[in-house]
Amino acid sequence: MTTLRIFPDLAQNAIDPRLFGSFIEHLGRAVYTGLYEPGHATADGNGFRRDVIDLVRELDIPMVRYPGGNFVSAYDWEDGVGPRAQRPARLDYAWGVTETNQFGTNEFMDWCKAANTAPMMAFNLGTRGIDAARQLIEYCNAPLGSKFADLRKAHGYAAPHNVRTWCLGNEMDGPWQTGRKTAEEYGRLANETANALHQFDPTLELIACGSSGPGMPGFPDWERNVLEHCYAHVDALSIHLYVREDGHKSLADYLACPAQMETQIRDVLAACDFVKAKQHHKKTMMLSFDEWNVWDMAQGNEKFHRWASAPRQLEQIYTFADALVVGGMLLVLLRQSARVRYACMAQLVNVIAPIMTAPGGDAWRQTIFHPLQQASRHGRGVVLATHLNGGTSTDTPTHGLSPDIEAVATRDGNKVSVFVLHRGAVPASFTVSLDGSASWRVVAHEVLASPDVYAVNSAASPATVAPRVVPSTQVAADGALTLTLPPLSWHCLRLTAA
Ligand code: AHR
Repeated sequence: MTTLRIFPDLAQNAIDPRLFGSFIEHLGRAVYTGLYEPGHATADGNGFRRDVIDLVRELDIPMVRYPGGNFVSAYDWEDGVGPRAQRPARLDYAWGVTETNQFGTNEFMDWCKAANTAPMMAFNLGTRGIDAARQLIEYCNAPLGSKFADLRKAHGYAAPHNVRTWCLGNEMDGPWQTGRKTAEEYGRLANETANALHQFDPTLELIACGSSGPGMPGFPDWERNVLEHCYAHVDALSIHLYVREDGHKSLADYLACPAQMETQIRDVLAACDFVKAKQHHKKTMMLSFDEWNVWDMAQGNEKFHRWASAPRQLEQIYTFADALVVGGMLLVLLRQSARVRYACMAQLVNVIAPIMTAPGGDAWRQTIFHPLQQASRHGRGVVLATHLNGGTSTDTPTHGLSPDIEAVATRDGNKVSVFVLHRGAVPASFTVSLDGSASWRVVAHEVLASPDVYAVNSAASPATVAPRVVPSTQVAADGALTLTLPPLSWHCLRLTAA
């Protein structure tokens, strides 16, 4: 028997809603036939697929990072604005394709409004630098009366877009990155770019690039080195992690892998706090986990002619097991949300994504859509203090001792949400108790479980893996709430003060 004691009046930290952000890169069919498909039966006047927008709204994603990713490191933003007929097609070295530039900065701003989300933009610090960043910020945010703001008006957008959050490049330590830099080169460039941007507007939120992943040879010295150059000018450091089942020794080993994300966060925070202490800063550095997901690079890539436009790339089909791992990663992000201010599931549509589309056809929810949707909609407010007692653990070859049950509780006003992951292979008895004088009732209990751990959703069968409501879950007269967790299951339990 495992017992979760929740202290509803003891908030650990506030959750920034942007913890549930996502990411759209010009890559594969994320934009073209993903967000944008003029002529699609659901397309609006801007050519945006309304079926996709409806699913994004269902996720309630507060922020979307754009336009890359590796793509941004050689992107000339000027190619993607102005009259469409005059926009050039350009070669994208990062993904070996042709970018038609029929969708660019202004279209993304319009799409964000339609999808009820906010932009998080990235500057190209690979092939370009301070000047292009200075011009793009003026194009996006300056009031009319200067060259780039007036250009925006000429393109049909008199009002500034007022983009608040900006990434200073992407994965600048990666050998695959166009314009890769050493930590010294990047740290200085990030600092000088941030300085110029803050001269324009000191309230901009700026994010410097951390390592591309914990396996990079420079990790975590890159973090220390970069921050020693730019700590004063940035609000957050980026952190990226992709996990995959391949390479794990068993299913249990794979399901334990979110532990790696927690270790990585702690390691990066150690580097941040070292620089804070060394340079005597008052400000505490936040993290932007702006790429995280399950990604098996071998999956979902069609063979295409080099420089094709919007081929199928990274179209991974997610299993039920992947959804459990994503649930585990969401628990880590919630637990670490005192320091992780932003996070973006990478990505949003078609490319390693919770939403898939068929060109000219349907849009549907992949398995991983569901834990993200539940956490995003119901994991708001504050993280509550909890105490988890009892329960078993599994010894895994890669990730060591892994608890079979993990849980996080959040509170928003009089609503308490409890997210529970049961990785064990047998049913488990689980009791929730809420301390204090208030009495609570269950609003809903949704469970994600499947007889087949490798079940997937598809256009033909979009709800093979979908949450099921358990109406029998109720608080008993003595105040106890006891559930039997099916083996391998994810739960979203919502309560309200009775
Ligand atoms: O999300 C796919 C790619 O993964 C991004 O372009 C890059 O930043 C990372 O390596």
